[in-house]
Amino acid sequence: MSTAISPTAYNYKVVRQFAIMTVVWGILGMGLGVFIASQLVWPELNFGLPWTTFGRLRPLHTNLVIFAFGGCALFATSYYVVQRTCQTRLISDSLAAFHFWGWQAVIVGAIVTLPLGYTTTKEYAELEWPLAILLAIVWVTYGLVFFGTIVKRKTKHIYVGNWFYGAFIVVTAMLHIVNHASLPVSFFKSYSAYAGATDAMIQWWYGHNAVGFFLTTGFLGMMYYFVPKQAERPIYSYRLSIVHFWALITLYIWAGPHHLHYTALPDWAQSLGMAMSIILLAPSWGGMINGMMTLSGAWHKLRTDPILRFLVVSLAFYGMSTFEGPMMAIKTVNSLSHYTDWTIGHVHAGALGWVAMISIGALYHMIPKIFGRPQMHSIGLINTHFWLATIGTVLYIASMWVNGITQGLMWRAINDDGTLTYSFVEALQASHPGFIVRALGGAFFASGMLFMAYNVFRTVRASNPAEAEAAAQIAVVGAH
Ligand code: HEM
Ligand code: HEM
Repeated sequence: MSTAISPTAYNYKVVRQFAIMTVVWGILGMGLGVFIASQLVWPELNFGLPWTTFGRLRPLHTNLVIFAFGGCALFATSYYVVQRTCQTRLISDSLAAFHFWGWQAVIVGAIVTLPLGYTTTKEYAELEWPLAILLAIVWVTYGLVFFGTIVKRKTKHIYVGNWFYGAFIVVTAMLHIVNHASLPVSFFKSYSAYAGATDAMIQWWYGHNAVGFFLTTGFLGMMYYFVPKQAERPIYSYRLSIVHFWALITLYIWAGPHHLHYTALPDWAQSLGMAMSIILLAPSWGGMINGMMTLSGAWHKLRTDPILRFLVVSLAFYGMSTFEGPMMAIKTVNSLSHYTDWTIGHVHAGALGWVAMISIGALYHMIPKIFGRPQMHSIGLINTHFWLATIGTVLYIASMWVNGITQGLMWRAINDDGTLTYSFVEALQASHPGFIVRALGGAFFASGMLFMAYNVFRTVRASNPAEAEAAAQIAVVGAH
């Protein structure tokens, strides 16, 4: 069989590159998560050095897990899905390669600058202006490749998964560019173009929609392709998926103010954010139900297929975190949960339970296909990974609920004379057992990623990429 890649075959090279880097960044980002979780248990692990303190490593954790791990998973799967559902090769191999290498450069830039303390101080938008500009250029390139491929599609229809990926690409570009508008004063320092409450509002319009479009809409695109594929069933309701799409993107964009309850933000804006967040439950659950119901008649497969388990459990956590979120957006609930570990538990119910689990399931489905193997090296190891991930997530979020509610109640307890019942340190001491359980849960989750790395390594070592390309070519030719 020839190793030359036919121009009609799909471009799986960039898919393979992003897929492998998803695993690499996943291990680093989650490993760092375990490390900072351990710093909260044993503060000595800060080592007394500025660049290893919690404050500098925490944003590195969030950048690595969201943009490096989550980003690479989204890029790998979106390039795979767009080619297969449009039955055409990516519009440009060189632009796709620039996207891959440019993105890795941004991540390496984050690994160098964040521990050194260079930061805009805006959460999830910490990278200073030279890196932010590079990121914008790389992102626009991604948009060109993705939408260019859609334009040159061989199919009449644009599959719904691509609509979700497309919205994720357009809105992320808009958020990043608007929130990063700033005045550079040196190569490593810039000041936001906005001031005071406006700056806070723009930042949380960005922050919430980073969750809504990066951590949700993109992964829903993944869900709409990989759940039906792995279940070998068509999506439950195509009509529901269209309603789901338009309702989700219309509502998400308004919910940002729930991050700024009881602040200097005008009260009406806070109430609007709260109302929109509650309504958001409907499309979120519509999507979750659409995914779950796709398994109608295929539930028995869960007994033997750990990949499907990853995908279904991710939907369960998606449903759970999108129920919890609207509750936390209610002002009176938020007055208890805000600033506490409850928020951290909510974040990781979404991040570990939904984002990481769906990515892992999708990768286990996709990796054999792009490396020309019938299946992963070991199904048993996928099962081990599944249990480590599930137990890890449950330990993480349960400990953070206990901690969050404990902290919220201890902080607000007052004596008859109006003085505080507990000092801050007492609330911190009460949180210590929860910090230990969280670090343990994180270690479970991260160790599952090591099993994945081994399994991927063995699959890749036995692979025949040329065969995968040829199979893709046959699929394209067959589609004519
Ligand atoms: C209907 C859906 C959702 C709603 C209405 C919602 C609502 C909320 C609320 C009210 C907060 C707390 C804000 C605060 O007190 O500071 C929050 C925090 C957060 N949520 Fe959600 N959530 C939803 C789904 C999700 C999902 C699926 C994920 C992850 C994949 C997620 C990730 C986050 C993150 C990262 C934060 C922390 C932001 C920060 O303070 O740094 N949320 N969310
Ligand atoms: C082994 C797995 C992980 C562990 C042990 C872990 C641990 C942590 C810790 C200790 C924090 C700081 C909490 C605090 O400030 O009190 C944190 C924050 C955060 N992590 Fe993770 N993490 C893990 C995986 C992930 C993944 C996979 C994602 C996203 C896909 C993620 C997203 C975040 C976000 C968004 C925050 C900031 C939350 C906020 O500001 O409210 N984490 N993580």
